[in-house]
Amino acid sequence: MKTTRPGGATSGLMLAIATVIVITANSAWAAPQDVPSRGFVWKDGAEVYAKVCGYCHDAQIGPQIRGRSLPAAYIRTIVRNGHRAMPAFRSSEIDDESLIKLAEYISKN
Ligand code: HEC
Repeated sequence: MKTTRPGGATSGLMLAIATVIVITANSAWAAPQDVPSRGFVWKDGAEVYAKVCGYCHDAQIGPQIRGRSLPAAYIRTIVRNGHRAMPAFRSSEIDDESLIKLAEYISKN
């Protein structure tokens, strides 16, 4: 007689579903207003630029900000406070460490 392991197939399926959710949540393009889940860490400045800033600044919605040697402190101030049509980003969206890396990246690229 065949015995079924308790929860065997079911927990495997649940794990598969959970994995899909995690992958989707991490790779899906998040609109700038979306708040990344707690504990979310950006890989580097280039990633933040590509996924957040480039949405406007590479689409001529915002002015060109790379290649202008803008001071990093100026970039950080604008990101935290906003600037006319430019929305502000909180530390829950772009953490302080990522913002430092981001400002450095934009300033030098
Ligand atoms: C929703 C669109 C949008 C997003 C997303 C966005 N910006 Fe902007 N940004 C703008 C607009 C529009 C302006 C011009 C504001 C004005 O002068 O009215 C601007 C202006 C700026 C300026 C000033 C540029 C100058 O010429 O002095 C900086 C610096 C800047 N943004 C940095 C960033 C960074 C860094 C990010 C990513 C964290 C970002 N922005 C994301 C729309 C955006």
